[in-house]
Amino acid sequence: MTTTSIPPRPTVTSPEFVEDPHKYYRVMRDHYPLLHDETSGYYFVSRFEDVARVYKDSEAFSNENYAFQMEPVVGRTVIQMSGREHTVNRKLITPALRGNYLDELLPQVDEIAASMVAEFPDSGTIDLVENFTKWFPINVIVRMLDLPKEDLPKFHDWYSSLMAFLSNLTQDPEIHAWGMRTQKDYPAYMLPIIAERRRNPGDDLISRLTQTETQGEALSDERIKALIGLLLIAGGETTDKAIASTIKHLMENPDQLEAVRADRSLVAAALVENLRYHPPVQIILRTATRDIEVAGDTIPSGSVVGCVNGAANRDERRFADPDQFNVFREDVSMQNAFLGSADHIAFALGRHFCVGSLLAKREAETAINMVLDRFPTLEYADGFVPKDVGLFTRGPEKLMVKA
Ligand code: HEM
Repeated sequence: MTTTSIPPRPTVTSPEFVEDPHKYYRVMRDHYPLLHDETSGYYFVSRFEDVARVYKDSEAFSNENYAFQMEPVVGRTVIQMSGREHTVNRKLITPALRGNYLDELLPQVDEIAASMVAEFPDSGTIDLVENFTKWFPINVIVRMLDLPKEDLPKFHDWYSSLMAFLSNLTQDPEIHAWGMRTQKDYPAYMLPIIAERRRNPGDDLISRLTQTETQGEALSDERIKALIGLLLIAGGETTDKAIASTIKHLMENPDQLEAVRADRSLVAAALVENLRYHPPVQIILRTATRDIEVAGDTIPSGSVVGCVNGAANRDERRFADPDQFNVFREDVSMQNAFLGSADHIAFALGRHFCVGSLLAKREAETAINMVLDRFPTLEYADGFVPKDVGLFTRGPEKLMVKA
C-alpha cells in the first residue's frame, strides 16, 4: 500500500511563502482549501469556486475590513460600503471611469505614454518599471485630477504607504508609522486644492466632484479627499504591475511575444491572460458577518477572510494547464474579461468589481503596444534576472532591458 504524505500547513507571512507563493498556493488548494493563518488570525480561501463565492456573497462576507486596512489613512470610501450607500457612492465615480469622461481622457492616456517612451535613452539599459510602468498610471490619474506633475513622487509615496499599510499582516511598526504620516500629509496637501476647485472649478475630476450632489447634498471636501485617495491607491500600483508582468511573461515566452508583436489584436489577450496567470492584486480581504461554512470548515463570525486571487486563477479545477501562460487560452472569455461577468478573478467579482477596469485596459494596451514598437527586439540587460516581489500585490521589482 502506498501512502501519500500531506505537506505541512503553509505560513502565509513566512519569507519562503513570499519568495514563491505559487508553490504554496497549490498546497493550499489541494490540502488546506480553508487555511487558518496563526500569525494574522486570518482564514485564507484559495479554490476558484470558493473565492468567487466569497466575493459574490456580500451579505455573508462584507468589506468592513477596509475600516482598518484603509480608512485610518485616507478616510471612508466606496470600497468599504455596502447596500444602497455603496450603490450611491459608486455612481459618483462611474462616469469618470466608465462613461463619457473616460472617453475624453483616453487620448490623453496615449499622449502621456508616448511622451514617457520618447524619453527612454537610445543606448545602455532601461528599467521599464522605474522608467515607465511605475509612474505612467499615476501620471494618468494626476492628469485626470489636474494636479501638478512635480508632485508625482508625493503621490507615489502616499499610495505605496497605503498599500504597505493595508497588507501589514505582521503589524510592522515602521509601516504603521509610514501610513500615519500619509494620514497627516495627504489631507494637508489635498484639502486646500479641493477648496480652491470649489471656488474656481475647471473641467477636471476634482472640480466635477465639487459640483456633484448625492441625495440633495453636495459632496463634502472630506469625502472628495477620501475618494481621490482611493483612486490613487486603486489605480496606481495595480496597473503598474499589470503592465510590467504582462511584458515579463511575454518575454519568458518568446513565441507568444512574436505572435503578439505580429498581431496586435492579441495585446488584449496577453493582458487578460496575465490577469489570470499573475493578478497584480493577489489577496483581498473580507470579514465574515456570521459563522459560515467554506470548503467543509467553519469560519467564525467576525473573522477576516483572505481571498487568494493568485491561487484561484491557477486552480486546475477551473482552468486547463493553469501554470502555463497562454495568450491563446480558450477557457477565459475575452469579451467579459473587464466586466463584472469576468471568468478570471483579478478585479474581484460581485458588487465591488473594479470600476477602473476599462481605464486599466486602455492604459495597459497602450503601454504594451508602445513598448513593442520602441523595442523591435526586447531583450533583458546582460546578467539581469527578473524577480517578483510582494504578497498582497505582486509584480516584477525591475525589468532591465537593452535600450
Ligand atoms: C489592472 C489594474 C487593476 C486591478 C488588477 C484592479 C483590481 C481591483 C480589485 C481586485 C478591486 C476589488 C477590491 C475589493 O473588492 O475589495 C478593485 C476595486 C476598485 N478599483 Fe481597481 N484595479 C485596477 C485598476 C484600477 C484603476 C485604473 C482604477 C481607477 C483609477 C481603479 C479603481 C478601483 C475602485 C474605485 C475600486 C472600488 C470599487 C468598489 O468598491 O465598488 N482600479 N480593483
